[in-house]
Amino acid sequence: MNLNNYIDEKHDEDLKDLYELLRIPSVSAQTEHKSDIERAAQWVAERLRRAGLDTVEIVPTKMHPIVYGESLHAPGKPTVLFYGHYDVQPVEPLELWTSPPFEPAIRGGNLFGRGTADDKGQVHIHIRALDALRQTGGALPINIKVLIEGEEEVGSESLWDYVNANKAKLKADALIVSDTSMLARGVPSITYGLRGLSYYEIEITGPAQDLHSGIFGGAVPNPLTALAELFAKLHDKNFRVTVPGFYDGVAALSRTERKALNSLPFKPKAFAKTVGAPALCGEKGYSIVEQLWCRPTLEINGIWGGYIGEGAKTVIPSKAHAKFSTRLVPDQDPAKISRLVERHIRKLLPKTVTCEFKVLSSGKPWVAPYTHPFFEVAHAALETGFGRRAVFIREGGSIPFVTQMHDTFKVPCVLLGFGLPDENAHAPDEHIALENYFGGIKAVANFYQGLAAL
Ligand code: BES
Ligand code: MN
Ligand code: MN
Repeated sequence: MNLNNYIDEKHDEDLKDLYELLRIPSVSAQTEHKSDIERAAQWVAERLRRAGLDTVEIVPTKMHPIVYGESLHAPGKPTVLFYGHYDVQPVEPLELWTSPPFEPAIRGGNLFGRGTADDKGQVHIHIRALDALRQTGGALPINIKVLIEGEEEVGSESLWDYVNANKAKLKADALIVSDTSMLARGVPSITYGLRGLSYYEIEITGPAQDLHSGIFGGAVPNPLTALAELFAKLHDKNFRVTVPGFYDGVAALSRTERKALNSLPFKPKAFAKTVGAPALCGEKGYSIVEQLWCRPTLEINGIWGGYIGEGAKTVIPSKAHAKFSTRLVPDQDPAKISRLVERHIRKLLPKTVTCEFKVLSSGKPWVAPYTHPFFEVAHAALETGFGRRAVFIREGGSIPFVTQMHDTFKVPCVLLGFGLPDENAHAPDEHIALENYFGGIKAVANFYQGLAAL
């Protein structure tokens, strides 16, 4: 049977199969889900075998297993490495979900559940595409290596060791990833840039223990006040980060790229509506897409300390805590930025408190040309899947593995994203549009087939 007809006929089966994966609560951050992580890895391995990959292995690591499989029976054809992740973010706060996070549900043309968009649904798109190719063609038309990890949402630490120990094994003509978004509904997109990240945690200590705020207040330092004052000083009135040297490595956008990015069909009004805030803010002098994709930021991700229980408690806490992070753009170096941030923070804090500073994770930013012939194949395939020519976008999220692969192998990285920016990744009511899930299967199958015809 013809590939596209076959795919059109399999929609019910696709979903039924995806539901199985979505029902496994493979939350990488929470140890109570360790056995679910193992189950998800096994599930993915089994599906890769069924899709025609012959050497499939579950590689144990210090944390969560990596699933690797390959099929190398297309001599003379390109070899690609497909990367994705089977782990998901925690689901809390649970009460904000309309339907349970690990019980897939369809509403209004969307499939809801944790991992539907990030990234189980998108990994499944490739599994189903490979399956369709094998069912209709008898064998896979290209050489493919598949690497699906279980630690992406917690920093991919085990993956670094694995990649460094298996460079020859992972070598390919291109890296393929589906873990990003489309610019908007109906606009297929190829992502050629991602921001990097350095993530920090600080603990600020004032008095050696909690104190009665009546007996001691007025004479002793309050670490929560120090924390609030500190964060109030990290941006200026134009919303620029005040860390000295922070912008030194930032590559300026060329006029051509700036023009291209600002002529994309991006709708600021729709964006503001998705955000739902009374008004937007951002670094002065840059458009929203530039702010999101091409400019670095500093964000506070969480602050805690003191008494937050019921009623009043008059206390001066001993400690204040915060998690915060910097999104980075080419050519900022995460290690250098971490040093600058730490130095600045220590300088700003008063002598009345001490500070423990930790870097929890980091990943380099990425941007690359899209001139390789593989991108033309991707264009044609996305047009088959979505009926419209794709646009080239950058995005603000981070996938540290992409940079690492690009640095290591210097190969083209083709990022075909089938999520949408408003699909609540990492939040309650995560979902994927069914049209993009099915369109994705068709696009990816045609992409792999098109690579064979090059
Ligand atoms: N799939 C996302 C990254 C992403 C989202 C890229 C949207 C482009 C558009 C990935 O799973 C993720 O959440 N990455 C983390 C970084 C990681 C080191 C924890 C991120 O971007 O915060
Ligand atoms: Mn992801
Ligand atoms: Mn994610």
